[in-house]
Amino acid sequence: MSRDHYAGAVAAWAEGASRVYRPIAEELLRHAPHPLRGRTVLDAGAGTGVASDALTAVGASTVGADLSFDMLAWNRPRRPPAVVCDILALPIHDDAVDDAVAAFVLNHVDAPVRALGELIRVTREGGAVLATVYASSSRSDARERIDGAVRAHGWVAPAWFAHLKAAVTPLLGTAEAMARAASTAGLAVSEVREEDVDVGVTDAASLVDYRLGQAHASSWYTGLGEQERARVRAAAIAAAEPVMEPYRPTVVFLSGYVP
Ligand SMILES: C[S@@+](CC[C@H](N)C(=O)[O-])C[C@H]1O[C@@H](n2cnc3c(N)ncnc32)[C@H](O)[C@@H]1O
Repeated sequence: MSRDHYAGAVAAWAEGASRVYRPIAEELLRHAPHPLRGRTVLDAGAGTGVASDALTAVGASTVGADLSFDMLAWNRPRRPPAVVCDILALPIHDDAVDDAVAAFVLNHVDAPVRALGELIRVTREGGAVLATVYASSSRSDARERIDGAVRAHGWVAPAWFAHLKAAVTPLLGTAEAMARAASTAGLAVSEVREEDVDVGVTDAASLVDYRLGQAHASSWYTGLGEQERARVRAAAIAAAEPVMEPYRPTVVFLSGYVP
């Protein structure tokens, strides 16, 4: 069983990081090979629910799955049913859902082909499997400067995040790698592409709140005293501002169907 690194990060994720993840989830659904209205869709690695929200908005019924109880508990009364579990061993019957979505969760597992295999197993024949990860080529000067400012205030990458960056995210970090993994898992690939997504984040403060809301930084940041938090945030904004441009991360989008 993988470990939950998001337990202490929920509010910061929902209020900060979601500024970037929500528009990408909405974009992911535009890559679906068929309309999702009226279908039952698994949101694997659902987190605080941005993809579930997007699915609800297009008229799909959603079932969430995530390793983190706390992420699934966020806004629980307004969330679809969900199960705490590992994407590598979904406690879901074969052919149980019409389609499956995996927004930024395949980049968390050492065995992404196995995870894709699980999505395929639980999805009915002809159903779509849609996924996103960040492209290894994704760059932003403003984001680099934020990371530099945060490091200068004492942030050190947690071991799990360092491992993720070094050994896990490169596994699917290009369109070619994603296409190969999806085909190996048995998916009929419709489209894999790397796309810069304009997420609507145009000011340095919003980019800082996104960055500090991500789990690898928020556990450290939220543990600081109020004054130190304000100092870190101000320093990160000041560092990013001179080079701030509309934030456009490069995302690998996968769209395929179960043959
Ligand atoms: C980067 S967040 C993305 C959350 C959400 N899909 C979004 O786009 O905002 C990754 C999520 O995957 C979950 N996760 C990480 N490893 C997992 C695993 N092995 N099985 C299921 N969920 C996992 C985390 O708990 C977290 O909620």
